[in-house]
Amino acid sequence: MSASFPALRLRRTRASGWSRRLHAETVLTPADLIWPLFVVEGQGVEQPIPSLPGVSRWSVDGIVARAKQARDLGIPCIALFPNTPPQLKTDDGREALNPDNLMCRATRAIKDAVPEVGVLTDVALDPYTTHGHDGLVDAAGYVVNDTTADLLIHQAVNQARAGADIIAPSDMMDGRIGLIRAALEGEGAHNVQIMSYAAKYASGFYGPFRDAVGSRGLLKGDKKTYQMDSANAEEALREVALDLAEGADSVMVKPGLPYLDIVVRVKQRFEVPVFAYQVSGEYAMIEASVAAGAGERDALVLETLMAFKRAGCAGVLTYHAAHAARLLHG
Ligand code: PBG
Repeated sequence: MSASFPALRLRRTRASGWSRRLHAETVLTPADLIWPLFVVEGQGVEQPIPSLPGVSRWSVDGIVARAKQARDLGIPCIALFPNTPPQLKTDDGREALNPDNLMCRATRAIKDAVPEVGVLTDVALDPYTTHGHDGLVDAAGYVVNDTTADLLIHQAVNQARAGADIIAPSDMMDGRIGLIRAALEGEGAHNVQIMSYAAKYASGFYGPFRDAVGSRGLLKGDKKTYQMDSANAEEALREVALDLAEGADSVMVKPGLPYLDIVVRVKQRFEVPVFAYQVSGEYAMIEASVAAGAGERDALVLETLMAFKRAGCAGVLTYHAAHAARLLHG
């Protein structure tokens, strides 16, 4: 017969700090974090993003400084997103293929100065298009799959040639993982990883990000014909299965906290590295809570990040990465 009260008191192991540490089932370290950063043209430029208080766009020199900070804080990887100058945005997003675009210049600069920090680059056309969609839009306003995928292959190769370590397609086109993997192999880029945004939902939590890359005012309609419906979980498992079959090294669930059930199911079903993106709106929600006096930043940051680890994540993309790493270093 199993013990019960008073023989068993679950509060016993919680009674002191050393014992709580000893019994912790999950650990969170700076090595679990990926730090998303926004790149802007210029030199010595820092542009605060009002809807993401505490987050700025940085020119390439500032991005390199952040990469050094990441190294010093033990953050293994940073994720780059460009704020493309409006005059370079086109219907077909061709700036994404320019070997000297902001992303490529930032990637090369980081790899020159801080090669020990991983660089993850986003594959999707939205930071480069006049309509704010992740792909090409036809006359009816539909985002077309296959011709978009053809461009994404070139975008991915362009990023890999600049030195990207992880290619992260966030566009949700069908079939693009296999096409990108084949193109990378053809380039001899055998060790360039693919982290697929496999289960990415059409979400209300992306608003501040769209401000950061300058696509919010441009976006026509919504992204529901390619990003997933929040009602669906089985479909997420099918997306993950396909991306793994096509050669993804790791998969991502996005947004983060509202989709932890998806993280758990993906981890249990596939036993592969799963990442989650605690997206811009989630960051903004925490900061708004702090500003309203409703919550305490350090506690909210560490508790939410621990939740991702407990659910089975290998790591988390979070705008709080540097702050969290400092807290974790004590
Ligand atoms: C676009 C992309 C988005 C994010 C990452 N890549 C936004 C979108 O799909 O509209 C969102 C990240 C965030 O909100 O922090 N390809």
